[in-house]
Amino acid sequence: MKLTDEEKRMLNGEFDEGVRYSMDILVQLGDLYGAEDFVDIQSVHGAMSYPNFWASVELVESFSNRGAKFRVPTTLNTAAWPSNFNRWPDELPESWEHMERCQRMINAVRKMGAHLTCSCTPYFQGNLPRFRECVAWTESSAISFANSVLGARANRITDGIDKAAGVAGKMPRFGLMLDENRKGNALVHVEFKPKNLSDYGTLGWIVGKHLGNQIPVIEGLPESTTTNDFKVFGGAGASSGGMPLYHVVGMTPEAPTREYALGGKKPLYELRIDEKEVEKARALISSAKTDKFEAVLLGCPHPTIAEVKNLADILAGRRVKPGIKFWIFISADVLALAREFGYAQVIEASGAELVQQTCILFFDISKWGWKTIMTDSAKYANLLTSEPTWLEAIFVDTLTCIARATV
Ligand code: F3S
Repeated sequence: MKLTDEEKRMLNGEFDEGVRYSMDILVQLGDLYGAEDFVDIQSVHGAMSYPNFWASVELVESFSNRGAKFRVPTTLNTAAWPSNFNRWPDELPESWEHMERCQRMINAVRKMGAHLTCSCTPYFQGNLPRFRECVAWTESSAISFANSVLGARANRITDGIDKAAGVAGKMPRFGLMLDENRKGNALVHVEFKPKNLSDYGTLGWIVGKHLGNQIPVIEGLPESTTTNDFKVFGGAGASSGGMPLYHVVGMTPEAPTREYALGGKKPLYELRIDEKEVEKARALISSAKTDKFEAVLLGCPHPTIAEVKNLADILAGRRVKPGIKFWIFISADVLALAREFGYAQVIEASGAELVQQTCILFFDISKWGWKTIMTDSAKYANLLTSEPTWLEAIFVDTLTCIARATV
């Protein structure tokens, strides 16, 4: 890679040991991907608080023990520890070791200067890159949102690279950071009118399933489509396929027209999604062979305050049926607002729980005795029915989840 004088000094250890260690990792990454140079990044969104293995803890501490500090604003993806649950292990039968590992990771990144947002929607917590800004983010749904809705530039990176990028303030320039790799190569015609977030999730799931890592150019979404609909669409597509970047003609920044989004080329793939296709997909995502379920899981990706108000309005005066866990995953800032506005109290009065800063995926729920979950999230339904949890999922819209789980 071609390094500037400053980058050479960073790599030679003339800054500090944390910077040298990080640059060493990033140069190897750049060589691997054939990057020619580095680009300055404006923020990091890191996978820094889910210790599925001891190696994750040791990796974070390998930075903090070198005195490494983040040089750019760094937010955290969801943590493997719900910070507002004081019922360990009665309500969450995880081992204390799990919590200790998570706490060690959080302590390490706190020392390095991270913002402990612990949410998969960093763009709602102040980490909001502008058009063409380069960032180093983890969390597939957030990367899809940054690239597609904001027009920022982010590759799908992983644990370790996020920390090195944050400490160096740089990333090797490759993949979606280059203009030539951002053009669409597949055309998607939506001939179905999505009515709710679950419909957007189903659409995203179909696109991801059929097109994997291709870059779809999508036509036919209604004018009423919101950024929050894109959040759900991108999250589902990133989990069923890859979909780090999609363009929606007339709506997302790199798609003023179909021709522009495709870079003047013919699409390699073409996909039509009509009502029949959506029905088929719903049946596939909803894998359960039973009507019985042990838990309702909402809040994937983490909800906005408007979604929380909607939940409070529907749950008002209702009670969760005995024996059912009803959990809504939520970021700390949205929960604080929801409490301030009284929505949280209404939700909790129904017996539903607002579980702060985490995600069900970080828990070993295969040991909890659950067989079937109900969710309005195509992403949850997709991921929880595969390794390592192998649950069955009932995938329905939010209203139906609440109607079936409460009286
Ligand atoms: Fe967020 Fe977990 Fe869903 S990290 S996007 S709530 S799978």
